[in-house]
Amino acid sequence: MFQVKADVISKEEISPGVFNLTLISPEISRSARPGQFVHVLCGDQNDRFLLRRPFSIHRVVPGRAFEILFQVVGSGTDELSRVKIHDALDVIGPLGNGFKYSPEIKSALLLAGGLGVAPLLFLAEELTENHVMFYAMLGAKTKTELLRYIDFKRLAKKTFAATEDGSFGHDGTVVALLNRTVHQLRPQVIYACGPEKMLQKISETAEDFGIDCQVSVEAKMACGIGACLGCTYATKRGFRLTCKDGPVFNGRDIMWGGSDVEQLPLDGYDYETAEITDSD
Ligand SMILES: Cc1cc2nc3c(=O)[nH]c(=O)nc-3n(C[C@H](O)[C@H](O)[C@H](O)COP(=O)(O)OP(=O)(O)OC[C@H]3O[C@@H](n4cnc5c(N)ncnc54)[C@H](O)[C@@H]3O)c2cc1C
Ligand code: FES
Repeated sequence: MFQVKADVISKEEISPGVFNLTLISPEISRSARPGQFVHVLCGDQNDRFLLRRPFSIHRVVPGRAFEILFQVVGSGTDELSRVKIHDALDVIGPLGNGFKYSPEIKSALLLAGGLGVAPLLFLAEELTENHVMFYAMLGAKTKTELLRYIDFKRLAKKTFAATEDGSFGHDGTVVALLNRTVHQLRPQVIYACGPEKMLQKISETAEDFGIDCQVSVEAKMACGIGACLGCTYATKRGFRLTCKDGPVFNGRDIMWGGSDVEQLPLDGYDYETAEITDSD
């Protein structure tokens, strides 16, 4: 993990309100793995932005630079969208665990909903480099919100698209598309990123078909390094920290809908180990 001042060398608005930034950092680009993220200070630390914002590492130029892809959703990302070429951003990373893959994996399916393409393009490039055959399935509400389709098409054996308004690719959700095609594709592993409900349904389908499924989840973060317990995620093995134990989890380990700590009984929750023990 490094803390660097990373110069912005390119900035592109690839879709309305969605920006791609390339940042110089030999340290981060050299050590980053697909699925890891960076924690970015979006403004002056003494100003409004005391807390950093987490963004997946979207792509790397090894030993030189890395990219983030983000959507403007609030004040931090709005500030970030205003950076200029040659501005330097205060960045900590790479953070988190990343996706797991091994030489035994011969076929994979990368499944993204909307901005979920952010960590998966880096993974797609890594799988390509390691000669792993994979399919890609990208979903969005409309064609304009479908991101990185051409990039995945260049890398994947076959790239499927689904839009909820039917403006491009299959008419409907990416989950419906998965359910229609999974028995033919039969990947050994599914890697997914997107809205939580989508990840839940994908994990359920994967479990039905006995397919390993790794999902990258989101939680609000403060420290990003496992110190504040602010990003707890409920799993069947107890609470886990999204920033340190995640953001990638096995889909079948997650207690879907239980990630809001307030919904769970806190009796028996050990704040030291972030484990739930039987309180009876
Ligand atoms: C590990 C990880 C990787 C991420 N990667 C990306 C990425 O590659 N690209 C991208 O665009 N976004 C990504 N996000 C989400 C991104 O961090 C938030 O959109 C960003 O922090 C919002 O900051 P803001 O100040 O603009 O919005 P705020 O004003 O803080 O919030 C605006 C809205 O976004 C919601 N929000 C804020 N932070 C989060 C969060 N961490 N998770 C879910 N919802 C949130 C708020 O509830 C609110 O509805 C990632 C989040 C995590 C945890
Ligand atoms: S954000 Fe502080 S522990 Fe994860």
